[in-house]
Amino acid sequence: MEFHNVARSGQIPEGVVRRMFVGDVEIALSRSDGTVHATSNYCSHLDCLLSSGKATAEGLLCSCHGSVFDYESGEPLCPPATRPITVFPVREDDGQIWVGVDEELAKAAMRRRAGRSRRRPAMTPPDQ
Ligand code: FES
Repeated sequence: MEFHNVARSGQIPEGVVRRMFVGDVEIALSRSDGTVHATSNYCSHLDCLLSSGKATAEGLLCSCHGSVFDYESGEPLCPPATRPITVFPVREDDGQIWVGVDEELAKAAMRRRAGRSRRRPAMTPPDQ
């Protein structure tokens, strides 16, 4: 697995969640109790961006409907989410944060609804 330098330590203060990218992979980087965590940036409930949430003492809080995810396992600790989010390995060395990404993790971290279009089908005029 390759580790990528995604941020300086100072960019991720306690309690904050920030969106970072490794290529096309979108990562939520957070810090709780001094430890940096890296997860998919998409909530497993309805794809809200976890970078809009908060790093709490219990876990990563999704701001949309309040699910909290365990930092280590990615498992939801409270509903409505029922499935885990992807967790990436993290290293913090010498003021730099490194995230490990391989093909399997990158695929697992993709937006669940990526293939769905939000566009409505074109309207056809009623027959006259
Ligand atoms: S989208 Fe995160 S809890 Fe609903």
